[in-house]
Amino acid sequence: TKRYNITLLPGDGIGPEVISVAKDVLNVAGSHEGIEFRFQEMPVGGAALDLTGVPLPDETLLAAKRSDAVLLGAIGGYKWDSNEKHLKPETGLLQLRAGLEVFANLRPASVLPQLVDSSTLKKEVAEGVDLMVVRELTGGIYFGKPRGFSTNQKGEEIGFNTEVYATFEIDRIARVAFETARKRRGKLCSVDKANVLEASMLWRKRVTTIALEYPDIELSHMYVDNAAMQLIRDPKQFDTIVTNNIFGDILSDEASMITGSIGMLPSASLGESGPGLFEPIHGSAPDIAGQIEVHSVLRAACFLLVDNVNKANPLATVLSAAMLLRYGLGEENAAKRIESAVLDTLTRGFRTGDIYSTGKKLIGCKDMGEEVLKSVDSQRSAA
Ligand code: NAD
Ligand code: IPM
Ligand code: MN
Repeated sequence: TKRYNITLLPGDGIGPEVISVAKDVLNVAGSHEGIEFRFQEMPVGGAALDLTGVPLPDETLLAAKRSDAVLLGAIGGYKWDSNEKHLKPETGLLQLRAGLEVFANLRPASVLPQLVDSSTLKKEVAEGVDLMVVRELTGGIYFGKPRGFSTNQKGEEIGFNTEVYATFEIDRIARVAFETARKRRGKLCSVDKANVLEASMLWRKRVTTIALEYPDIELSHMYVDNAAMQLIRDPKQFDTIVTNNIFGDILSDEASMITGSIGMLPSASLGESGPGLFEPIHGSAPDIAGQIEVHSVLRAACFLLVDNVNKANPLATVLSAAMLLRYGLGEENAAKRIESAVLDTLTRGFRTGDIYSTGKKLIGCKDMGEEVLKSVDSQRSAA
């Protein structure tokens, strides 16, 4: 048996619900490949703030660094929204990404044949979309200095941030993107705002230079405003997209909707070495999160209220677990087991609310987990 240590960071909102599903799926899919996981659950985000007073306790970062891979649910919630910057759940997540030095964030978005009807785009536009956003994750305006609050000459309060990229940061994310494109359809589109921003001018210059190392890859450049439009107009024109931290954040949420729901999109964050961080691209979805116990009592009392429980789609996290196996542990077979179990579950007609379409079977987060487990097991008997 192969053994791996996985740090689980459930976080806030729907985080614990979706992590619990993904953990079960990892256990079962792993067992079919002779893999055993040791899970260590640690607090991050709002949960860590409530428990320890900081959004990323040293123990959490240390555990993450010592493990073979890290799986995170989501962080954030209304309760902490007006906290000072250093006491925000989001700051904990950024510290985690920086602490693990995971500068390359892979966010695949493909329209699954089973979910064409869940896309808000016309069938002929959405069908067959298969793209990968390579987002720079540890630089840019998220981390640039100077930043902060101050006052201007009129004595007015100002808030300011700095979009900054150094050559080495662009070069290394560009190489990841070219390598990624090489394993896909050989097309890379670099998205920037080089008509306005100096950081983007350098970005475009370096990406163009690194392209010389990859003559087999077809490189194009696009301004981010146009890219946002083209993603909706004709998303099939894209194969691999490489972009900075903030544009990648925004464009990947946009791309998620082409596929039907943000509840479907996984991600892998990787560095030069050390454990990778795997998380769905969505957040803690406070509007649909929580209070499962309270609600199941209510559900028994009045099933009209059933609507607000257990609503989260766990598949983005389940698919993040598959990325963990593939990119984090090199366990391709186990990754494929999870991915085909997800497809099989969708083929059998099960849907959470966010991907529901007429005639399908509407179920909750937990039940979706159970169905995926059944699919994992049925593959085993088929094999
Ligand atoms: P969000 O992604 O949490 O939710 C946006 C919308 O998508 C909501 O309507 C939500 O219900 C829905 N949604 C998200 N995930 C879903 C799922 N798995 N299944 C079904 N529906 C889903 O974004 P937001 O509302 O802008 O942010 C909420 C909180 O999450 C904020 O505190 C934000 O900072 C945080 N956030 C965290 C992460 C992260 O942990 N990586 C990412 C994004 C946002
Ligand atoms: C994401 C989130 C985070 C980001 C926030 C919560 C810091 O939106 O993972 O996409 O902006 O990177
Ligand atoms: Mn985001």
